[in-house]
Amino acid sequence: MNIHIKIGTAEKEFAEILVFYLYEDTKTVSAPLAYCDKALNNSVSELIKGKGFVAKLNKTIVLPTYGKIPAKRIMLVGLGKKKDITLDKIRQVAGITTSTMRDIGASDGISVMDSIDILLPLSEWYQAYAEGALLSLYKYQRYKSIPPEEQQELKELTLLLSNKEMSRPAHDAVKYGQIIADAVYFTRDLINTPSQDKTPTILAEGAKKIAKELGIQCKVLSFPELKKLGMGGLLGVAQGSVQPPKFIILEYNARAKNQDTIVFVGKGITFDSGGICLKQAKDMDLMKSDMSGAAAVMGSIKAIAKMKLPQRIVGLIPCTENMPGSSAMKPGDIVKFYSGKTAEVANTDAEGRLILADALVYAENYQPSAVIDLATLTGSCVVALGTVVTGMMGNNEELKKRVKIAGEKSWERTWELPLWEEYQEQIKSDIADIKNVGGPYAGAITAACFLSKFTEKYPWVHLDIAGTSWCEKSSAYTQKGASGVGVRLLVQVVQNWTRFPEKNSP
Ligand code: BES
Ligand code: ZN
Ligand code: ZN
Repeated sequence: MNIHIKIGTAEKEFAEILVFYLYEDTKTVSAPLAYCDKALNNSVSELIKGKGFVAKLNKTIVLPTYGKIPAKRIMLVGLGKKKDITLDKIRQVAGITTSTMRDIGASDGISVMDSIDILLPLSEWYQAYAEGALLSLYKYQRYKSIPPEEQQELKELTLLLSNKEMSRPAHDAVKYGQIIADAVYFTRDLINTPSQDKTPTILAEGAKKIAKELGIQCKVLSFPELKKLGMGGLLGVAQGSVQPPKFIILEYNARAKNQDTIVFVGKGITFDSGGICLKQAKDMDLMKSDMSGAAAVMGSIKAIAKMKLPQRIVGLIPCTENMPGSSAMKPGDIVKFYSGKTAEVANTDAEGRLILADALVYAENYQPSAVIDLATLTGSCVVALGTVVTGMMGNNEELKKRVKIAGEKSWERTWELPLWEEYQEQIKSDIADIKNVGGPYAGAITAACFLSKFTEKYPWVHLDIAGTSWCEKSSAYTQKGASGVGVRLLVQVVQNWTRFPEKNSP
């Protein structure tokens, strides 16, 4: 869908559908709606007066105009109470707007932006509006045969405003929203793809392709290099699969001078069967999404590069399947990481931390100002926090604060779990430096404890997205399936970035 900005007057515009927004608690309708109401013989104001439409958040009503104004239909969309309006509610109503337009068969529509009377910076809420409008239209249809007559597509959305001076900033904000939505589409597509079509080799080829398109660097380490470097965590997990592992390195702004380097690390398990500690069959298909961290890292770098943000960004993506092949790692085996540390593999299903450990040590090579990893790491995080919020742990207060603030703005929120010394006890091993499970309690925390052993040299935040990466049902701007979580959050972290105060000291 294309989004345009237009200066104009609502009652004069031709469109298949013309959209007005209303607050639940505002007695008078906005000026543009008042003009249309008059032309429509006060039918809108009477409807509202008679409680035929109550402007609760995301409520809609579509009304015919019987040729009294050029637009064929008008739609009213509720914003809820004025004091409760937020950026995310703007995303939601934008999503409801475009999905309703599409569902009634419109191929174009106009949103009357002056009817959203809001006290937020224009650049922020126009960007949020564009994000919601686009994200709600996402569909994953790669493997569906849909006859052309059943394809319903909203092609054009016009944002109508009256003040000419707002046109430029609105246009720029919408452009940012489009870049972000495009990156989220990319990430959702990767996650929704079945494992058979996103093996580590295929993902690595995909990474090279986007790097070329964006003019950024991409390097892929394959088996011989991984062996030489001693990445025993990644190689250990890969042992059970016929698919060779890959370690993808993306680098944006590689030659930036006087800029902080931020490293993103994404868990790239393209299928997690559990390995020899095989998972149960129920919901195992969902484990194609165990590369959601990897996909979010790729998507966010795509957006950051298109936005031309000034920092140097490195994406490190260890990729492998976790399969129970005859040469698979066995419970009790010991792996040796790139740092030389060893771990006892008490459970082959706790594989994410093994591949991340190698990548986190590799991050040191970039002398990063900050490292953020994203991983669908533990079922325990889903038990603790559900699917609403991402679990956050880390070793640096300032970095955690930045991630939290970016989470509030992008509405990909994070909630901190404690990474206290006492928990480290649980991952002690009798025969190796550490072991990869910490017992039945506090599994999200003990997983992060494991990672913390490899992140001592830089400020680090770990995001457990096991609960937030997948949606069981659709909502205003997400659909059942991959959410694409992490993209908006990481982009916002970088958009807000100022020189990191504590370079090289956690
Ligand atoms: N990929 C899973 C975690 C997961 C669970 C992601 C549910 C998304 C939804 C991870 O590799 C895993 O299996 N973790 C185990 C660890 C346990 C064996 C210590 C878990 O959380 O059960
Ligand atoms: Zn697992
Ligand atoms: Zn996993």
